[in-house]
Amino acid sequence: MRVLVLGGDGFCGWPTSLYLSDRGHDITIIDNLSRRKIDIDLEVESLTPIRPISERLAAWGEVSGREIGFVNLDLATEYDRLVGVLEGIRPEAVVHFAEQRAAPYSMRTTHTKRYTVDNNVRATHNLLTALSATGIDASLVHLGTMGVYGYGWSGSAPIPEGYLTVKVPTPDGEIEREILHPANPGSVYHMTKTLDQLMFSFYAKNDGLRITDLHQGIVWGTQTPQTARDERLINRFDYDGDYGTVLNRFLMQAAVGHPLTVHGTGGQTRAFIHIRDTVRCIEIAVTHPPKDASRVRILNQITESHRVLDLAKMVADVMGADIAYLPNPRREADENDLQVRNDQFLALGLEPTTLSEGLLEEGKQVAARYAGRADPTKIVCRSVWKAGMETASDLITKLPAQA
Ligand SMILES: NC(=O)c1ccc[n+]([C@@H]2O[C@H](COP(=O)([O-])OP(=O)(O)OC[C@H]3O[C@@H](n4cnc5c(N)ncnc54)[C@H](O)[C@@H]3O)[C@@H](O)[C@H]2O)c1
Repeated sequence: MRVLVLGGDGFCGWPTSLYLSDRGHDITIIDNLSRRKIDIDLEVESLTPIRPISERLAAWGEVSGREIGFVNLDLATEYDRLVGVLEGIRPEAVVHFAEQRAAPYSMRTTHTKRYTVDNNVRATHNLLTALSATGIDASLVHLGTMGVYGYGWSGSAPIPEGYLTVKVPTPDGEIEREILHPANPGSVYHMTKTLDQLMFSFYAKNDGLRITDLHQGIVWGTQTPQTARDERLINRFDYDGDYGTVLNRFLMQAAVGHPLTVHGTGGQTRAFIHIRDTVRCIEIAVTHPPKDASRVRILNQITESHRVLDLAKMVADVMGADIAYLPNPRREADENDLQVRNDQFLALGLEPTTLSEGLLEEGKQVAARYAGRADPTKIVCRSVWKAGMETASDLITKLPAQA
């Protein structure tokens, strides 16, 4: 299939582009490289030495014999160029990863709140308008997040895949309706994903766009068989307080000799997926477009749920690390239950890669190989959800000699 991958230079988009290319699909990446520019602003770098996009693409050509196209384009501001690319390529599928994706970054300052809304909402809406205006019948696969549901809202009831059936009282008795699961965002970033949902619902109903919204859990791991083929293809590994995600941060912290940073009691339960399963799920979604265009198909893209403290203890046991309990910079419940339905991906053939010592060890090895690139003063989370909330001081400012 001809597939456009929006945000294809990012942590999920790059391995997905390589995986789909390896599977024989014709891939063109659109990315404005904004994620790399944010690293420069934050004075931090991916732990792994990711190469410039042109070098990455040339390396993939060398090792696979396959070409991936690239267009440097800002989806939020360059609508006419986007239309031109869509008309030139006439993709059969579009995978949309291209948003500012860090909750802590979105809460960092007034500027980053405004940037996150402007970038994410406009990018998604430009894409929807462009698909509708050009009449290109591509199926759209969007990366949403489990965070749109919020945490703890429905107690121990499993979170359904996007929709809830509710009873509406009327003077003539109750009627049953299917509604989008109530949006319960926990940050400005998550709020943009709930706004995306409304836009998808409208454009599916009004314009018949074929849309799949993937409510993804926290992605962990770094490499896929494709990114591991050559060091120049290596995937991004964020470890800093804004962009690093919890399990990868624990692996990195264990590898460099930093205590594992648990926020609050660590009683938060979250859903996870390994990067190898992310790329498989995207291919499944791309090759199985929804049949009913009037209703957005929503799939929960997760394989397992864990309590943050249990993960920290597991990593500490396997790798020998201490745990530090730090003030929580987020406004969230100390503890929550979380059970998530993922029946649709399982029915479509996903075989989950679940957490195992082997995979933790592999993650630690990647982190250990590049430990010397880590800046320990970037590890503690400093973006707070409300001005005045407490944060911790750096736990170490110099890496231990053995790291
Ligand atoms: N990483 C996770 O754990 C996770 C979990 C759930 C959902 N997601 C979602 O998956 C998607 C990809 O996440 P990621 O971790 O790969 O993020 P990332 O920041 O590494 O990648 C996003 C890419 O999109 C590009 N981009 C952003 N705005 C753009 C614009 N206006 N025009 C063109 N390109 C633009 C960036 O330069 C970057 O390369 C995001 O939408 C995110 O919300 C990620």
